Amino acid sequence: MPEPDQSKLRVLLSAAMIHERIQALGAEIHAAYPEGPIYMIGILKGSWIFLADLVRAIPRHVRVEFIGISSYGKGKTSSGEVRLTKDIDASLEGKDVIVVEDIVDTGVTLTYLIQLLQQRRPRSIKVAALLDKPSRRLRPIQPNYCGFTVPDEFVVGYGLDFAEDYRNLPDICVVE
Ligand code: IMP
Repeated sequence: MPEPDQSKLRVLLSAAMIHERIQALGAEIHAAYPEGPIYMIGILKGSWIFLADLVRAIPRHVRVEFIGISSYGKGKTSSGEVRLTKDIDASLEGKDVIVVEDIVDTGVTLTYLIQLLQQRRPRSIKVAALLDKPSRRLRPIQPNYCGFTVPDEFVVGYGLDFAEDYRNLPDICVVE
């Protein structure tokens, strides 16, 4: 298996910038919710590092769930197909839910997921996305909590991959 090529990477957001922004997002979420648990649902696999840092920045009762969605092939372009590959274990009825996403690109994945989760009758459902790439949007969806807006470039690191590589980079980088 070839090693991923590190020479083609340019740092867009450093680990320190990401850390600082997530502390602010956590405080904003904490202040916005009434007492009671927030169900944080991470979309696999890209959101796992963001979710891990975000829940530690929210000083209150939080529950963590993961959901699996496949919307992309192995490269940089979408297959256009969205499929549920792993469901959550908990009931969401009457719960405050935040769907945690790594990056909102076309918005197709999130639109599908929100529609699916709405059927489970949560009290509220919002979206926290680390990155927003609004220039490629095909569905009218905006994250309620957003870390950074990024240009139309393919980014990796901090959980985001290119063909399953680069997820462990501490910074978010553009693949040139
Ligand atoms: P959407 O359905 O087009 O919004 O796609 C969202 C998903 O596509 C994200 O959860 C990522 O898995 C993937 N994706 C979109 N843009 C990028 C990128 O720049 N780098 C890595 N993954 C991306």
